[in-house]
Amino acid sequence: MVLRTSVAPMSAPVDPTAASAWSSLRRLADSFTPDLRGWFDSEPERVDLYTFDAADLHVDLSKSYLTAEVLAALFALVTDTDIVSRRDAMFAGDRINVTEDRAVLHTALRLPKGAALEIDGRDVVADVHAELDKMYAFADQVRSGEWVGASGKRIETVVNIGIGGSDLGPVMVYEALLPYKQQGLECRFVSNIDPTDLWEKTHDLDPETTLFIIASKTFTTLETMTNARLAKKWLLDGLAGAGVINDAEQQAEAIAKHFVAVSTALDLVADFGIDPANAFGFWDWVGGRYSVDSVIGTSVCVAIGPERFAEFLSGFHAIDEHFRTTAVEQNVPMIMGLLNVWYNNFLDAQSHAVLPYAQYLHRFPAYLQQLTMESNGKSVRWDSSPVTTQTGEVFWGEPGTNGQHAFYQLLHQGTKLIPADFIAVANSAHPLTDGDADVHDLLMSNFFAQTAALAWGKTEEEVRAEGTAEEIVGARVFPGNRPTAAILAPELSPKIVGELIALYEHITFVEGAIWGIDSFDQWGVELGKVLAKQLAPAVSGDEAALEQADPSTRAQIEWYRAHR
Ligand code: F6P
Repeated sequence: MVLRTSVAPMSAPVDPTAASAWSSLRRLADSFTPDLRGWFDSEPERVDLYTFDAADLHVDLSKSYLTAEVLAALFALVTDTDIVSRRDAMFAGDRINVTEDRAVLHTALRLPKGAALEIDGRDVVADVHAELDKMYAFADQVRSGEWVGASGKRIETVVNIGIGGSDLGPVMVYEALLPYKQQGLECRFVSNIDPTDLWEKTHDLDPETTLFIIASKTFTTLETMTNARLAKKWLLDGLAGAGVINDAEQQAEAIAKHFVAVSTALDLVADFGIDPANAFGFWDWVGGRYSVDSVIGTSVCVAIGPERFAEFLSGFHAIDEHFRTTAVEQNVPMIMGLLNVWYNNFLDAQSHAVLPYAQYLHRFPAYLQQLTMESNGKSVRWDSSPVTTQTGEVFWGEPGTNGQHAFYQLLHQGTKLIPADFIAVANSAHPLTDGDADVHDLLMSNFFAQTAALAWGKTEEEVRAEGTAEEIVGARVFPGNRPTAAILAPELSPKIVGELIALYEHITFVEGAIWGIDSFDQWGVELGKVLAKQLAPAVSGDEAALEQADPSTRAQIEWYRAHR
């Protein structure tokens, strides 16, 4: 496969609301009455019709709000908004991130060796694999004990310092793949500028056996650079206190043995004092929230090893190929993205729950929050004109069954429409039995029960038939008709974790493409960063700077300072 970059200027976004498919969907929405019970009665083949496979993922959308008419109109919307061309432009390396004038090529990070993709005359796949090989060699050295700290001891703890995409992906995948982690090697993740984060993650560590990965695409992020400096001081103080280092030369040697960096800004890495030989690079065409499959995943690679990391990448690639080549009618990310547009733009859903019935996926909803909300939380389109309709939903969630004992009450009986994705695997990494009961089966019974309860509910008649006192019949009715998707996979392997991430990346892409927005920039995080810098002197006691603040902010800072 040889794909070439095109430098054609980005065409103006299509206004989806002017499309004839949009009018059809509006008409359908105006008279839409969800009736899951009725649909299943009248459509015996409904499960087959709305169940799809993508690589190892088995996706049942039969309990969603899809009907034949809705799906046909959504497919027409694909044509009207020309999503397929935009998808192909992304895979080909066009500069579809127009506000940053960048290609969007996270899919190139998982192309197998030997595939070819040229950008501006460079063989991107060769570059990607050169960096992967460098990361793999490093990971092997740490795992085997060949890489030692300043006092000659092997590394026992790897601390990743990064934030946003340089943290959420690595920590989520590390937690998801804990069963694959090498014994005796632990990773920790420091992200927050709250000093308690770094303290908690380092206070019980031995500097002689600790290695820091400074992960930052830009190598300028306030939180990461502050924590990196603090980590450097912690390490050097600790080693000096133990008599391991005594002079500047030994300090530099210690930094080389205890610090590596992952960044697109290798010049800044060198300025920080990290030997460029210990830096792994990536490219501006990888968005932070799309980067866990680049060398940003170094901590994961050290934990699970290069072979497993390659399997992880192969999972992404399997879904990329599904998304790139499968007909729209069977294309899972396409259909799930369209379905989200149906819920969000026509049925007024404000949020979307993601509920993994897999404790190892406990950080998956947090990871998805950056992926989806930093990508699609926009009010202007890629040509800076205002959007013409609602954009990104609020994504949230917690693992089941924990969520059942917290917020499911609202899912079952509340007044809000909240579509929910239920995710589970068939095989547990640690099967246990409780008497005769397989505990994973108990977990899965809950998974199956919840989507059924949400769909079918319980009618007044059914509640009365149970002998319920008339005064509380209403309280015990479940309206049902609550839409869910079930995503099942054989096990939580590295490959399948890659598949899950890629699935949501492409769902996010489809939604953004319909709305005509640039899903790959994040200008909305800038203002707060600038203000924080401006306010820092005021917070620390500079009266003149405090005078510049607005009355409310000034009063808060004064209160804060009075209580220090
Ligand atoms: O918060 C904005 C952001 O730029 C994210 O998009 C990014 O993942 C994060 O900051 C961290 O950035 P960096 O990897 O450059 O430190």
